[in-house]
Amino acid sequence: MKIAVIEAGNVGSALGTGWAKAGHGIIFGVRDVNKPNVKALCAQIGATATSPADAARQGDVVILALPWGVAENAVKALGDLKDKIVIDSMNPLAMKDGSLGLERGYTTSGAETVASWLPGAKVVKTFNQVGAEMMMAGASFATRPVMFVAGDDDSAKSTVTRLVSELGFEALDAGALKQARILEPFAMVWINQALFRGLGRNWAFGVIRAQK
Ligand SMILES: NC(=O)c1ccc[n+]([C@@H]2O[C@H](COP(=O)([O-])OP(=O)(O)OC[C@H]3O[C@@H](n4cnc5c(N)ncnc54)[C@H](OP(=O)(O)O)[C@@H]3O)[C@@H](O)[C@H]2O)c1
Repeated sequence: MKIAVIEAGNVGSALGTGWAKAGHGIIFGVRDVNKPNVKALCAQIGATATSPADAARQGDVVILALPWGVAENAVKALGDLKDKIVIDSMNPLAMKDGSLGLERGYTTSGAETVASWLPGAKVVKTFNQVGAEMMMAGASFATRPVMFVAGDDDSAKSTVTRLVSELGFEALDAGALKQARILEPFAMVWINQALFRGLGRNWAFGVIRAQK
């Protein structure tokens, strides 16, 4: 599958690397294809880089890995992505009353906002729930870590579920895209532990089932 990774920061480079190892063709969509880190990453994993709109046009799946603050302009500039599978990994983080919160609040979500910017695209929310370092480390856990997946299009969700599983995660269906309203606050649980409660970044959520 051709996967367009929009921007090659922490999340974009982790997911691009993981999916390249899984055998997918990775096209980074970046503002500056000549940046040394982008060139080195492409050489290392056998990816290519082009403009964000060109990458999105070529990709069977497009993954958005942009800071929320720049997302509206950058996502709208990708052009018409009608019928395309678009994975939203972004957390709409913002400082609120002196602490880290969600700019979109709890009665909508970043993912629903993204869907409103991309009419007809099949937006799926996932990969927002652990740190970037963990996104490639799924297979290194004794128990598979969990990654929830929310979206309105079942066939898009099943493609994304496969991509999630390929990185070593147990993909669980969270329901419709509006369930991003619970997945984005859920990411805040990880962030709170990792950044403010001393747990560090080397962990992920897992589902432990009771024995019958
Ligand atoms: N980091 C994590 O652990 C993590 C985990 C889960 C979800 N997320 C979410 O994933 C998203 C990306 O996070 P990240 O940590 O990967 O961020 P990052 O490392 O800062 O990377 C962001 C990328 O966006 C590019 N960028 C910056 N301004 C831009 C603009 N105006 N237009 C287009 N591209 C621009 C940057 O390019 P330059 O380098 O050229 O500036 C960089 O490649 C965020 O929404 C975050 O909430 C992050």
